[in-house]
Amino acid sequence: MTSANSSTNPSTGAPSRTPSSGLSSDPTGAAKSPPTIECRELVRIFSSTGVEVQALQGLDLTVERGELTAVVGASGSGKSTLLTILSGLDVPTAGRASVAGHDLLAMGRRERTGFRRHTVGFIWQQTSRNLLPYLTAAENIAMALIVARSPKRARGARIGELLDLLNVGDLGDRLPAELSGGQQQRVAVAVALANGPEVLLADEPTGELDEANSEMVLDSFRAVNEQLGTTVLIVTHDSGVSEHVRRTVQIRDGRTSTEVLRSTRTDHAGLEHEVAEEFAVLDRVGRLQLPQDYISQLDMRDRVRLGLTDDHVTVAPVRERSSPAAQDALEASGTDADGGPDAPRTAASTSEGDR
Ligand SMILES: Nc1ncnc2c1ncn2[C@@H]1O[C@H](COP(=O)(O)OP(=O)(O)OP(=O)(O)O)[C@@H](O)[C@H]1O
Ligand SMILES: [Mg+2]
Repeated sequence: MTSANSSTNPSTGAPSRTPSSGLSSDPTGAAKSPPTIECRELVRIFSSTGVEVQALQGLDLTVERGELTAVVGASGSGKSTLLTILSGLDVPTAGRASVAGHDLLAMGRRERTGFRRHTVGFIWQQTSRNLLPYLTAAENIAMALIVARSPKRARGARIGELLDLLNVGDLGDRLPAELSGGQQQRVAVAVALANGPEVLLADEPTGELDEANSEMVLDSFRAVNEQLGTTVLIVTHDSGVSEHVRRTVQIRDGRTSTEVLRSTRTDHAGLEHEVAEEFAVLDRVGRLQLPQDYISQLDMRDRVRLGLTDDHVTVAPVRERSSPAAQDALEASGTDADGGPDAPRTAASTSEGDR
């Protein structure tokens, strides 16, 4: 399985970490309809126990209509916090967030209820949390339709359609306890889709499943995305999910850091190859996070030296300064000890790099 941090450029075998121009899934920046999910400088601070925890620290994320995206990150990186905000269950402390045209910071109570019933569908990690245990699979879907006041006549057909789409067509009469974990999660996806949401959000939907069941559930998300055009966002700590989606966004310490885009390319012999490219995320004010392994490999600390060439920027570690005697000699020759008169700017002298 490919991890977001170890993705390589298959054509060269080298790590491919080209900075992108932002968090849009389309690096070409072609004009398109407004994104379905848009977060800007999103902050969520919890201070319930007297200690402040900054779960989200200025997170930027853009998901276009119809995308199937995974957000991957370590435990505590802020994934669930992000998802509960996007589903309308929680409100951010600061920043901007919109989903399918709804401003999540400005929504009133009534709009929020409608938003959660009709605009977003949600799947939790715990299979038991998604379904009512005393109702069958079909009745669980029916309940979601009843709550949203869907017309009674159309309910039966809708339930059959959803069970078939999720490949559990013959399990409608079973209680959750009579289904495997993977089957329960597929029924949960059907319940979440009952009212035709524009967006499907899933928090660790495969966290309790073995590999085979995880694959089936992830295939279901792909089927839903392809057949219904639903925008799907899955958060997980399992970087293997990136093999099932076109785009994986890595979240680190409450901010998006890198993203992997998968695409199919045809080589000169006409053979198709799946290509995974990893990009660093560059936010609006020019911040990016260097991968931890790059930082340790080059022993970078505190500040780095930035350099601008015709078509790229270099980031170099700052080495120990030379001895005073050597420095005197360099000054006498008119050369700056840090690399000459045209030496690249250091982060310390670059306001953008320090912000
Ligand atoms: N209600 C809360 N009150 C206080 N702190 C919270 C609350 N919810 C989350 N946090 C803290 O915010 C940070 C991010 O938590 P979050 O649950 O979003 O992480 P996560 O990436 O989903 O982790 P995991 O993979 O373990 O589910 C953590 O430090 C967590 O302890
Ligand atoms: Mg979580």
